[in-house]
Amino acid sequence: MGDLASLGDLRGKRVLVRSDLNVPLDGTTITDDGRIRASIPTIKALTEAGARVIVCAHLGRPKGAPEARYSLAPVAARLSELLGQSVTFADDTVGPSAQAAVDGLADGGVVLLENLRFNAGETAKVDAERAEFADALAGLADAYVSDGFGVVHRKQASVYDVATRLPSAMGGLVKAEVDVLKRLTQDPERPYAVVLGGAKVADKLAVIDNLLGKADRLLIGGGMLFTFLAAQGHEI
Ligand code: 3PG
Repeated sequence: MGDLASLGDLRGKRVLVRSDLNVPLDGTTITDDGRIRASIPTIKALTEAGARVIVCAHLGRPKGAPEARYSLAPVAARLSELLGQSVTFADDTVGPSAQAAVDGLADGGVVLLENLRFNAGETAKVDAERAEFADALAGLADAYVSDGFGVVHRKQASVYDVATRLPSAMGGLVKAEVDVLKRLTQDPERPYAVVLGGAKVADKLAVIDNLLGKADRLLIGGGMLFTFLAAQGHEI
């Protein structure tokens, strides 16, 4: 997948951007907007190129149907503040609200779709179910940009299937992360210590396995620490 430049002239084109806006919320208050901030440079690059930008993302793990506590509405407000321009929030993913918001986009305008995981097709394990949702998402746009680094490993409709249906490119965030990952896995400076944290242990086992042969030290903290302590026979 090439970078944004590989998509050519984007003026007036509808560009679907898959971002990772999975931020922590306390009710409707965003307690850490780091992921929204990280998504800004790519969205700005697209608006400055005159594209009509359709941002899509997930929040939490709803079970394929709308749930108010997982709405991206608070994220739309913060995105608008950080971009310094209005962001139209569509209160569905591929329904009438999304279509109307996209139809109303001017060059350089931004729409945020509601949580992709309110549609069961997003995370479906059956290819045909994802395909139907991916077709609908792709129908909203002329091109696709993959910029949700935290979710690029998921075989989901907005991440994997849409990219097979539209001219696609990676966004600046994914490009920067991939460049760093290449350096850290292929030619790291030494001594090389890796600090790992977070909660999703299952997702990180393969990463740890891969790093074991490369890093001089591997330091594990955060929520997943307890899994390792338990495996060593400690009471937790
Ligand atoms: C994350 O928070 O790790 C990413 O947004 C991916 O979320 P997921 O693990 O629910 O797919």
